[in-house]
Amino acid sequence: MGVSGAGKTTIGLAASAVTGVTFLDADDRHPPQNVAKMAAGIPLDDDDRAPWLDAVGAALRDEAPCIMACSALRRSYRDRLRQHAPGTLFVLLQVPRTELERRTATRDAHFMPATLLDSQLATLEPPDPAEGIVVLDATRPIDALAADVALLLDTRVD
Ligand SMILES: Nc1ncnc2c1ncn2[C@@H]1O[C@H](COP(=O)(O)OP(=O)(O)O)[C@@H](O)[C@H]1O
Ligand SMILES: [Mg+2]
Repeated sequence: MGVSGAGKTTIGLAASAVTGVTFLDADDRHPPQNVAKMAAGIPLDDDDRAPWLDAVGAALRDEAPCIMACSALRRSYRDRLRQHAPGTLFVLLQVPRTELERRTATRDAHFMPATLLDSQLATLEPPDPAEGIVVLDATRPIDALAADVALLLDTRVD
């Protein structure tokens, strides 16, 4: 989990390569009308997100064990995912705003324009301690982050 540019896809793919555990990306599970809205720079509302979160939650349940890249910014979104897949372990990739701006500006061919960063950061609800979310400093090297996720997966799958 984390805002756009935090490294969810990059770290998820790298962790999948290390572990052999299936990687899935929640971005691929948006209904077409959500993709169109984001491409137009219009933030999604919670009505837009509901069917998306249900699809992501169903995949977490049906494809387990798997690694899912999903922003999961609000507590209510995470709770909705947990309703489908109670065993989900959330890992927050934390990156300072300046680094996010740098990453988003240099990334091309992606449907999330940099202008949505503001809305992403405003929407992110930091983990409540009761959620048991693992927070990683995602400015660290990709390999080190992937190794951390692999370790966390090991402790869950066994
Ligand atoms: N740990 C990292 N160190 C340096 N660059 C990173 C790191 N993780 C991701 N990136 C880069 O940041 C950009 C955004 O990563 P991405 O995985 O697409 O983020 P997200 O899926 O969360 O939107 C990409 O260009 C990626 O290569
Ligand atoms: Mg991504």
